[in-house]
Amino acid sequence: MGTARVGRTRRAAEAAGAFLRGAAGRASIGVAAAVAAVVAAVAPGCEPTARDPRPVLLYGADNQGVLAACGCPSNPTGGLAKRQGLIEQYRRTRSHVLVVDAGNVMPDRSSPVKVKYLAQALARARYDAIGLGDQEFLLGADRLRDLARQHELPLVCANVRDAAGELVAAPNVVCEVQDVRVGIFSVIADRAWGFPVREWRTGLTVESPVDAARRQVALLAECDVVVALLHMTMLEAGDLLPLVPGIDVAIVGHAHEVLRKPDRIGETMVLSPGEAGHILGSLTVERDEPGGQLNLVPELTVLSAQIPDAPWVMDLYWKYVDESKDKPPPDWDLTPIPPRYETAEACKECHENEYKQWLTTKHAQGYESIKKAGRHQDPECVLCHTMGLGRKGGFVSMAKTPGLGRVTCQACHVVTSDHDEKGVKIDSEITISSRLCMSCHGPVQSPDFDYFVYKPKILHTSAAEKRTVE
Ligand code: HEC
Ligand code: HEC
Ligand code: HEC
Ligand code: HEC
Repeated sequence: MGTARVGRTRRAAEAAGAFLRGAAGRASIGVAAAVAAVVAAVAPGCEPTARDPRPVLLYGADNQGVLAACGCPSNPTGGLAKRQGLIEQYRRTRSHVLVVDAGNVMPDRSSPVKVKYLAQALARARYDAIGLGDQEFLLGADRLRDLARQHELPLVCANVRDAAGELVAAPNVVCEVQDVRVGIFSVIADRAWGFPVREWRTGLTVESPVDAARRQVALLAECDVVVALLHMTMLEAGDLLPLVPGIDVAIVGHAHEVLRKPDRIGETMVLSPGEAGHILGSLTVERDEPGGQLNLVPELTVLSAQIPDAPWVMDLYWKYVDESKDKPPPDWDLTPIPPRYETAEACKECHENEYKQWLTTKHAQGYESIKKAGRHQDPECVLCHTMGLGRKGGFVSMAKTPGLGRVTCQACHVVTSDHDEKGVKIDSEITISSRLCMSCHGPVQSPDFDYFVYKPKILHTSAAEKRTVE
């Protein structure tokens, strides 16, 4: 690992220099004339001698636009506030800390207010490289460049070009920590399973990640450690890595599984912090002796309730809530939209038993839960815990539309109360599927969701009852 490489060309410097100029004082982008040393994030006044001098690379991925974890009992993990809380612990105990993200740090739906605050948080958190994921690209190349410039964000992507043929972000970042030179580049798969509609690449050209990665490895040949941020599935990373020798560490940022132990493909150590931003990985760089062989020591930390939220990120979160509480939520592909929203009481008249049973499920108390958690002004929380927020005739507030402050019948049955008069036949077998549930029971909010475990809990008539009715 980390054999000395020579022969890096000036092209990286020139290519990279075109982007992110001005992010001086931290990571130099590309190989700008001289490789600027990363000023190890030393809080002023701290005593560096007390800290572990071994450089550490911290990595996360798939934050999905979460500033503050929802705090639900089912999943109190993840979010930038906890991630930052842990990063700051590292910065207090280690003298050389690099931080990277392997993509999808932004939300998958457009909430300009949220994006603004996420960008502020990332800027202040002083990341060294942020690989672009499909969710970042949903913002459009121009907005991405604006964000990078305005907040000095070290966005990185080596294989996506705009209509003018310009790379959308810097292809790579080189950081020097202690006596270790770390080269970081990022590529995104043209098309990976599970990506949203291909709209993320509208107007852009996506070069083969293999070709781009090979070029980056050549450009970064002088680095002691070459890190690839791969925004793709684990399968695609498995296809790419054997074709691109020279990558020491690959961090996969669109994989839906956590690699508890690193994989090894050829000479590459493969890491994945998994989906939904639950984990911050760390990789400590050690030398056997000064100037000697490099060893990489991996570790994973779950961003659980025990990790403190960085208070300043929480401040940004509450500012975001303040600014967005009266605004319609971002457009979100939730459950199908009924012709008009109705309360569960509208169905009760003819479906008394189903209604009574539904009242006993947690669906009947969606708003109460977020109220209890003190988060009822965050439109994203409201969106899933009520019906039709931001849509015509949907939930507005508990004062105006109390009956819609829960997950009503229409979340699962897209009909109105006159369906019988109109002779509308409902084929529940077809309309109710795991996919429908998962529009709300996603990996962030309902990580344990299993259709076959959850469905029996909400059935109006239990299977046992059905048998005895005969
Ligand atoms: C005026 C009475 C009436 C109202 C109000 C009413 N329904 Fe129905 N519903 C019926 C009747 C009668 C049936 C059974 C006939 C059938 O299978 O189509 C039925 C059947 C159903 C079925 C089962 C279909 C199947 O495949 O077995 C569902 C689901 C349903 N209704 C949902 C609702 C929902 C949701 C509402 C409120 C938005 C509602 N209904 C309001 C009369 C009503
Ligand atoms: C994508 C839809 C979605 C969003 C957005 C969402 N939730 Fe939830 N929430 C759920 C689902 C689904 C569950 C049930 C999880 C389970 O039991 O597996 C849940 C459960 C909860 C619970 C647990 C309730 C109980 O009785 O145990 C709380 C508290 C909660 N959410 C708060 C929040 C807060 C706060 C936010 C905003 C930060 C939020 N939720 C955003 C879907 C959502
Ligand atoms: C979380 C999803 C969900 C919600 C919310 C829900 N249902 Fe259902 N409903 C189902 C499922 C699942 C079935 C069974 C169909 C199946 O097994 O595929 C069903 C079946 C029905 C049936 C057919 C007869 C029966 O009891 O099996 C009726 C009628 C019905 N629901 C009415 C309602 C009414 C009225 C409400 C609101 C008070 C409601 N449902 C809320 C999921 C839901
Ligand atoms: C419109 C969003 C939405 C849809 C669709 C939805 N759920 Fe839920 N579900 C929720 C929310 C929100 C909660 C948490 C409610 C609370 O406690 O505040 C929840 C809670 C639950 C719970 C209770 C979990 C527990 O800890 O007891 C079960 C079970 C459940 N859902 C099953 C289902 C199934 C099965 C489907 C599909 C047939 C489904 N849900 C569809 C939003 C949804």
